[in-house]
Amino acid sequence: MSTTALELPHAELPHPNDDAVYAAMEPHDPGSFANHATPLIRNCWYVAARYEEIGRTPLARKLLNVDVVLWRMQAGIPVAMRNRCPHRSFPLARAKLVGDRLVCGYHGMEFGPDGVCAHMPALARAPSTAMVHTYPTADRGPLTWIWMGATDLADESLIPDTSWLCDGTAWGTVTGNFHIKSDYVAMHENLIDQTHFPFLHPDTVGTPEYARSKLTASTENNQVVIRRELKNASPPGVYGKPANIMHKRVDRTSEARFVSPALHIAFARVRVVEPDPGEPTLYRYNITHVFTPETNTSIHYWWFNSRDYRQRDPDIDKFMLEAHSQAYYEDVEALEWINEVVRNDGEAQFDLSFAPDKPGLMARRIMYRLATKEASQV
Ligand code: FES
Ligand SMILES: [Fe+2]
Repeated sequence: MSTTALELPHAELPHPNDDAVYAAMEPHDPGSFANHATPLIRNCWYVAARYEEIGRTPLARKLLNVDVVLWRMQAGIPVAMRNRCPHRSFPLARAKLVGDRLVCGYHGMEFGPDGVCAHMPALARAPSTAMVHTYPTADRGPLTWIWMGATDLADESLIPDTSWLCDGTAWGTVTGNFHIKSDYVAMHENLIDQTHFPFLHPDTVGTPEYARSKLTASTENNQVVIRRELKNASPPGVYGKPANIMHKRVDRTSEARFVSPALHIAFARVRVVEPDPGEPTLYRYNITHVFTPETNTSIHYWWFNSRDYRQRDPDIDKFMLEAHSQAYYEDVEALEWINEVVRNDGEAQFDLSFAPDKPGLMARRIMYRLATKEASQV
């Protein structure tokens, strides 16, 4: 896999306990790292909604600062269009769906799935100039994706792989969602920063030795990957309890990946050093974080936690749902508190960054470059 031209395409980071500060990463030019004020990246597949949210009742949702209406054709194909009639701005989520046409509730203009006005009752012929902007969509398992960037760049092969969410035999999955009053840049930085685990999530994913374990960070195309490994340690409760291995020593690895502005995926692998006879050696977890900016300072967030053992055990489902809802709520709460401070404190502050912050800064740099590249092409 090729690497980008970032200055340190693959780097083993100093031990977090080292005093060394990454001089190279001190962002003297804060503009080179995305933040809440950076224009939203549009040339990217984002999730518009869960598959089952979109049906024959039009659904209004703001995505990337645009009001969108989502509905399904009779054949089940998802449609996304601007939630605004081109005549007098009536919200089309309040239109009536008749067959495969949305009938505006104000003067009755009818729009097909291609957004073209097919009929206007007050005119003998449909006005040729009247159409609603539509957006490419695609269903993938439990998610429906949308492309809101340049239409000619909408390539479905760019939709990231989340195939384990479609495989209920091999993977047992629990899921939840939040609406967050924060920005998606901060969310990405939070997810690729695992040194906060023992402090923000002491009862779930955090163990003190994990914060001190070495990590490597690298960039692969426009992705950032961090890998951690911890040998012969106690398992964290969130992985040890459902597998019933809290009394065991485990080797633990994790890979966390900034996949795109819409997606972060973590792969956790827990290997029991001395498994009991007949018990598994390896427990695998895929954690999928999907988010779409609603605005620059609010996010739609869906999460999925998948495991490859006892896939249909309701007790494990209950445990995983509660533990992960709690952990992610802790992130959501922290991000909302931070966002409030950043927006309301009258005195500006330049945040300090240290060696362990590097993966987050790498992701923010990629997002900044993608955003500025798009802005320069407009
Ligand atoms: S506002 Fe929709 S037809 Fe007039
Ligand atoms: Fe967290």
